[in-house]
Amino acid sequence: MSNKISKGYEIEPLKLDRDLEGISLKSVREHKKLYDVYVKKTNEIQKKINEADKSAANAVYSEIGELKRQETFAVNGMKLHEAYFPLLGGDGKPKGKILEMIEKDFGSYEAWKEDFTATGMSARGWAVLAYEWKDNRLHNYGMDAQNVGAIWDAEPIIAMDMYEHAFFMDHGTDKKAYVEAFFKTLNWDYVDSFVEKHNLYKRHGGVNQA
Ligand SMILES: [Fe+2]
Repeated sequence: MSNKISKGYEIEPLKLDRDLEGISLKSVREHKKLYDVYVKKTNEIQKKINEADKSAANAVYSEIGELKRQETFAVNGMKLHEAYFPLLGGDGKPKGKILEMIEKDFGSYEAWKEDFTATGMSARGWAVLAYEWKDNRLHNYGMDAQNVGAIWDAEPIIAMDMYEHAFFMDHGTDKKAYVEAFFKTLNWDYVDSFVEKHNLYKRHGGVNQA
């Protein structure tokens, strides 16, 4: 039986037509090209998995082993960029139910921001604000690569790309300037609608207030 081949996920269309404060349109357009590669390579890898010799599977080296390793990198690359791009282009002002959730779990928005910034500054891949389905609360997780450090059973809400390709064009090695620019343009309306759409507020409040 063949594995199902992914056709890529729906991505919020990039409607940006202007430079953002600290993140240029050119940088975003180049970045989007990498996302397109993750989708293309996911499809290619999954097709090759279906064709690979499963009887030759070996953990030191085998075609199927390498395909399975790179599949997690490509699939997470798709998913995390789908969480990242729609966040760009907002007013940077936290609001709504997500703000209430952050204040409840981290004490204050400033405390969350301090922790999220430190998560990003110390990560080589991603900083992710995620909703954990196990304990029904928010966590800031850092990842060194798209397939290293991912937590199962957690929904990415805010994904901040910390790969160098996300900031080098605009800021060189100044990661902090990029992180500050990310916060300035963070689209909290989108974040809040995401939380609403996935019913996270109801579940979060319901469990913790019980
Ligand atoms: Fe990226």
